[in-house]
Amino acid sequence: MRLRKVPDVTFRTRVRDESIEGPNPYRWEEKTTADYFAGKRVVLFSLPGAFTPTCSTYQLPDFEKLYDEFQAEGIDEIYCISVNDAFVMNAWGKAQGIKNIRLIPDGSGEFTRKMGMLVAKDNLGFGMRSWRYAAVVNDGVIEQWFEEEGFADNCETDPYGVSSPQNILDNLRAGEAVAA
Ligand code: BEZ
Repeated sequence: MRLRKVPDVTFRTRVRDESIEGPNPYRWEEKTTADYFAGKRVVLFSLPGAFTPTCSTYQLPDFEKLYDEFQAEGIDEIYCISVNDAFVMNAWGKAQGIKNIRLIPDGSGEFTRKMGMLVAKDNLGFGMRSWRYAAVVNDGVIEQWFEEEGFADNCETDPYGVSSPQNILDNLRAGEAVAA
């Protein structure tokens, strides 16, 4: 069986830098797929947009709350990715008081496209965004895959269930490998 790996891309992040004076002490920092995934077992979850209701009310805060339980199941990090730029992702993390989850800006959608998860959301004025999915990724190799049903452009609904942290935790605890 061919191992499915996460694609190699470069993410443009904004990081705090105390040596910068003024009201906006942040600089650009490029991070690669290897920087995030090499040598770690992580949960990656991807969603249609920062600040959107389901993502802000349930998915991101629930992953944040359950972080210790993921660690107990051998997960080193939890990453949230969205087709949003670094400014938006940082503002969302700050607004949500996120301490445990690392937010990855896929502003150009390159990672999401290469994962095969890019969909049009022009019906909402969003443009191209990510279909909602999650994965357990071990050293860059996709071990378990959780994709919401109904992958489609301009989907009228926003399915959320299999990619919830509770479902992923249940699978990790059961030791079941969902076909990647
Ligand atoms: C939501 O998370 O609720 C949502 C996501 C995409 C579009 C609309 C709503």
